[in-house]
Amino acid sequence: MNHMLVIDIGSSQITAAVAEITDARRIVVRGLGRARSGGLKQGVVIQIDSVVDALVRAVAEANQMAGTKLSDPLVSIGGSHLLGQDISGTVMLNHREVTDVLLTQAMEQVQAQAQVPEREILSVIPRSFTLDSQTGIRSPQGMTGNRLDAHVHVITGATHVVNNLKKCLRLAGLEAAVLVPSALAVSQLVLPDERELGVCVADIGVGTTDVMVISEGAPAWMQVMPMGGELLTHDLAVALKTPLGDAEHLKVQYGYAHTSFAPPKDTVQVKKLADRPAENISLQQLTAFIQPRVEEIAEILGERLRQSGRFEEASTGIVLCGGTAALPGIAQVFESMLQCPCRVLKQAHQEGLDGLLQDPANAVLAGLLAYGRDQEVRPKPRWLGAQGSMFNRVRRWIQGNF
Ligand SMILES: Nc1ncnc2c1ncn2[C@@H]1O[C@H](COP(=O)(O)OP(=O)(O)OP(=O)(O)O)[C@@H](O)[C@H]1O
Ligand SMILES: [Mg+2]
Repeated sequence: MNHMLVIDIGSSQITAAVAEITDARRIVVRGLGRARSGGLKQGVVIQIDSVVDALVRAVAEANQMAGTKLSDPLVSIGGSHLLGQDISGTVMLNHREVTDVLLTQAMEQVQAQAQVPEREILSVIPRSFTLDSQTGIRSPQGMTGNRLDAHVHVITGATHVVNNLKKCLRLAGLEAAVLVPSALAVSQLVLPDERELGVCVADIGVGTTDVMVISEGAPAWMQVMPMGGELLTHDLAVALKTPLGDAEHLKVQYGYAHTSFAPPKDTVQVKKLADRPAENISLQQLTAFIQPRVEEIAEILGERLRQSGRFEEASTGIVLCGGTAALPGIAQVFESMLQCPCRVLKQAHQEGLDGLLQDPANAVLAGLLAYGRDQEVRPKPRWLGAQGSMFNRVRRWIQGNF
């Protein structure tokens, strides 16, 4: 029996989960903890004390519920400082067989190219290998050829942001934490066929939208856009002259992504700023202040995908998650703006996560559990070597320290 601790560090709240991975590889969530954070803006730490405090509370709650004392979590990292790049490393084989040593050399080359000042390597994910003229090889070990190219997706983050997050984790007693980009975590939850044929995941949180295109089973492109649900709340507060807290409540309780979904006759009372009298407005009027921003987020996502040249690779469409994806009708708005199939992530193909995914804000947490489980059971690339415990090897693979 094996337990795992995961933590999603979001701008609105920090959530922690402890899950048991059964002998049959099932994920069974045993503990959950939540704490409002407040010390983050657009996925980046802006106040260490309040992040540390929220981390301690969320982890203690999850551990207590599960009866565990885990302190070596997988932890999400977000923010528009994250950058995904495709990098290739080459080794000349001279008709030798591809061995772990040669693969390590190719990976070291990739790492050397990714290692630039002020940036930290967070994830190194082999996409495919080319052996001479043969492309699209997934496992080249044992094959013979003249030249081997490793095509790898490398995700890096700004050193100062990563260090501040690591400092928070250290102060919260979680120094053994491994950082996983949020979009990479969420991308584990889509169907294996979607990952093969090509799909885009978009996690729309408070201040950021984390986007990743996955094709041929591996990440192809990633970007974090600095926009999310707080823009909708802000627009409502300005338009209705109501306090931000009330605007947030109105959006979450009564808002829709498009006026065509709002019941025409229903109304809601809106409190006003500066002691002005409250007024009643229809849900259609309320939604009319939300819809333009939802459309704008969809439009900018489309622009970014087109600019990346990877939109066509997401051939099965876009999967939405994050708290803002709970806005009724959002998939339809995205679908009509982007002219491709869009759906909200409500189920994972892995068993045991659907309870969490009742709320799309839990997608990163569920994705981290799926990611951690799969890293533990997937056959390990042999180039990792035999030393160390399995968890340490997994850790090194995830962090790219081959
Ligand atoms: N039912 C709902 N309708 C509309 N918006 C919602 C709903 N539920 C939550 N939200 C919005 O979702 C956002 C929170 O989402 P989430 O928990 O995914 O963000 P986060 O992970 O804390 O932030 P980030 O990822 O940006 O750091 C808030 O802006 C909130 O208003
Ligand atoms: Mg988030």
